[in-house]
Amino acid sequence: MKPKKINVKNSGVVKLQCYEDFPDGNLVIAEARKNIPFTIKRVYIINNLFNKKAVRGKHAHKKLEQIIFCINGSFVLRLDDGKHKQRIAMNDPSVGIRLGPMLWHTMLNFSSDCVILVFASDWYDEKDYIRAYDEFKRLTT
Ligand code: TYD
Repeated sequence: MKPKKINVKNSGVVKLQCYEDFPDGNLVIAEARKNIPFTIKRVYIINNLFNKKAVRGKHAHKKLEQIIFCINGSFVLRLDDGKHKQRIAMNDPSVGIRLGPMLWHTMLNFSSDCVILVFASDWYDEKDYIRAYDEFKRLTT
């Protein structure tokens, strides 16, 4: 399922260019500062999601910009901007979701073959994380 409309703040859909007409497979293309709207300084992958009860994320960032993709399998992305919440089924490698600043996000319901790819606008910095939901609520309301 592709999200029709994103209702939370600091998010949105990023559609990548996709060639699906090759007899020997598909091609999906991401280009920094073109369809990825920032200079990519970090890329990370989440895989090996065999634990059916796994729940990842559960944090927000103060400044970081990220675009998240499900490049294989499926999972559910839950977004919360402090006022509005949205649940998005992720299952298309050419459809990314922007995880902008001050957006609480949770990933769950992973298929065992799920592979997640994230492009980030900056290097890892634990000081940019908000890991306590009550602190996030205090800062967003
Ligand atoms: P975290 O971002 O909380 O994981 P997720 O959102 O995927 O559930 O990171 C988990 C751990 O990995 C945490 O100890 C920080 C570390 N980490 C890095 O060192 N560098 C990174 O780029 C990321 C994303 C995490």
